[in-house]
Amino acid sequence: EVEYSLRPRYLAEYIGQTRAKENLKVFIEAAKMRKEALDHVLLYGPPGLGKTTLSNIIANELGVNIRTTSGPAIERPGDLAAILTNLQENDVLFIDEIHQLQRSVEEVLYPAMEDFALDIIIGKGPSARSVRLELAPFTLIGATTRAGKLSSPLRDRFGVVTRLEYYTDDELYQIVIRAAEILNVPIDQNGAMEIARRSRGTPRIANRMLKRVRDVAQVRGEGIITLEIAQLALQMIQVDAIGLDHVDHRLLKTIITKFAGGPVGLDTIAATIGEESDTIEDVYEPYLLQIGFLQRTPRGRVVTPQAYEHFGIPMPE
Ligand code: ADE
Repeated sequence: EVEYSLRPRYLAEYIGQTRAKENLKVFIEAAKMRKEALDHVLLYGPPGLGKTTLSNIIANELGVNIRTTSGPAIERPGDLAAILTNLQENDVLFIDEIHQLQRSVEEVLYPAMEDFALDIIIGKGPSARSVRLELAPFTLIGATTRAGKLSSPLRDRFGVVTRLEYYTDDELYQIVIRAAEILNVPIDQNGAMEIARRSRGTPRIANRMLKRVRDVAQVRGEGIITLEIAQLALQMIQVDAIGLDHVDHRLLKTIITKFAGGPVGLDTIAATIGEESDTIEDVYEPYLLQIGFLQRTPRGRVVTPQAYEHFGIPMPE
């Protein structure tokens, strides 16, 4: 699949997240020199910044297998036990959306992370006893959109905790150029910069936009991605000059027109625009907070003067 082949496979190909990358490079090299499993790694931050990509790269650089699953997919302790007992020495276990693990499953994970052991209860009632099964050493990589949602005993068991940051326009530009090369689509500098500038700091968005712009270049243009073609395509998919999409618009304009700019509670906003509170909080809000269009206050969300200005709406007195 194309989507997959756009993903870098080695740290050297991975653009951006410089600090995380440099640190991981050292920790990976040290673990390899000692022939040990890398310490458990927690990756957190907004969606689309490369948590899954980075996990695959870590396994690749370590030269081990990666087993991928997610918090909601592991329904019972036995599901996790089955995965853990099938890992080979120093393998990576990647759990996406790790904040959604059941408590009962988390409890199996603690001794596994700490002692590479599985505690199995045999029997019931007064005659029940616990048998400890040894596991192969492994690295758990957990990914979550919000570290604050993790229980603290789980969070404390990660030796490496890394926050992924929004990418700069320059980094996104390089990502777009690289992806265009892989997709074999000609692109000029202005076309690439336009996509970069409107990607909300997020490679996943940049790559998705690139594919739609490529379609427009093919059908409406000469097959080359230029500034004009990028602008036409982004207008077609309702992305504005700074990269905000129609959900961002609906969110901000609802607060402005229905709640006098706020403060208004998250659940009220969610009910009004018909999106899940969690989706708003994890997917839409982080970037709007980052660019200063939205503020969180104890009494709810507030739209800032910058957002009013962007929409050309006068601020209420
Ligand atoms: N594609 C998506 N994210 C990327 C990144 N960080 N570096 C290079 N290519 C990417």
